[in-house]
Amino acid sequence: MSDLRPVALQLAVFSPHLEAGLSRRFEVVRWFELDATAQASVLQAQAPRVRAVVTAGQVGCSNALMSALPQLGVIAINGVGVDRVDLDFARARGVRVTTTPGTLTEDVADLAVGLLIALLRAIPAADAFVREGAWQAGEWPLARKVSGLDFGILGLGQIGRAIAARLAVFGRVAYSGPHRKDVPYEFHPQPITLARSCDVLVVSCPATPATFRLVDGRILDALGPQGYLINVARGSIVDESALIAALAAGRIAGAALDVFEREPTVPEALRRSSRVVLTPHLASATVETRTAMADLVLANLDAYLDSRPLPSAVA
Ligand code: 8YV
Repeated sequence: MSDLRPVALQLAVFSPHLEAGLSRRFEVVRWFELDATAQASVLQAQAPRVRAVVTAGQVGCSNALMSALPQLGVIAINGVGVDRVDLDFARARGVRVTTTPGTLTEDVADLAVGLLIALLRAIPAADAFVREGAWQAGEWPLARKVSGLDFGILGLGQIGRAIAARLAVFGRVAYSGPHRKDVPYEFHPQPITLARSCDVLVVSCPATPATFRLVDGRILDALGPQGYLINVARGSIVDESALIAALAAGRIAGAALDVFEREPTVPEALRRSSRVVLTPHLASATVETRTAMADLVLANLDAYLDSRPLPSAVA
């Protein structure tokens, strides 16, 4: 059933709060639930009425979809990653793009620390050990001490800084990125020297052409057999095949990953490895943060519909 309100294409599942907010403002098409045939009929019937695309950071919006929507005015990303939206293409078509900066920084940093401790202290395996009744049969093996380690942060943006502030409580922090920052941490212009100098390498940089598979076999070897990798940024920044090979050969000690190259598919080699802790891209998935993200998405959409300046536009 069609109404007279503008149409928004919804490209991912969102919190009930965001979905309710979208439905109050738009006729919402749940695009992600449609197959190719149904999507083609929606475009045929509704394309000129579509004014907004609402999407997740890891989903984005293709150039083909933008091109098929002549009245598209805004792509509202429920997240901070812009790696799946071609910003230049959007600008050239006069399509605005918004994100939710600042809303999820603390959650992502908290998860990075949680994953790190879970990995080094083997908390998921210890939990299974107790649940399976193995404790009666023997002692839990020793793990690695977190306090006192050297931490390397790849990408000291807002999230990287929040991770650094937390990890500085545990040990020495150093970082790498395109520019030196005014921070009390050692700077490594080259990621490889950062990897060589640290025990735990935390990936928190944006996914760009420059960071595509930046963490490759060479960097993993520099991290070494006692080193650990944490990724809370994007799967594309780590060469997943190189990581699998390094883990299998014991060339690094372990990895904790919230993001993957082809989500939600996670290679079996990772799922079977006892050297990894895995989570399903949940870094920003708390009630409080997803509510704050939703409120900023809706504030951007309201501003767009009222022709006011957009609160957090990136294009
Ligand atoms: C979210 C993200 O999982 O901010 C991003 O770019 O990847 C995550 O915060 C996602 O965008 C939720 O919709």
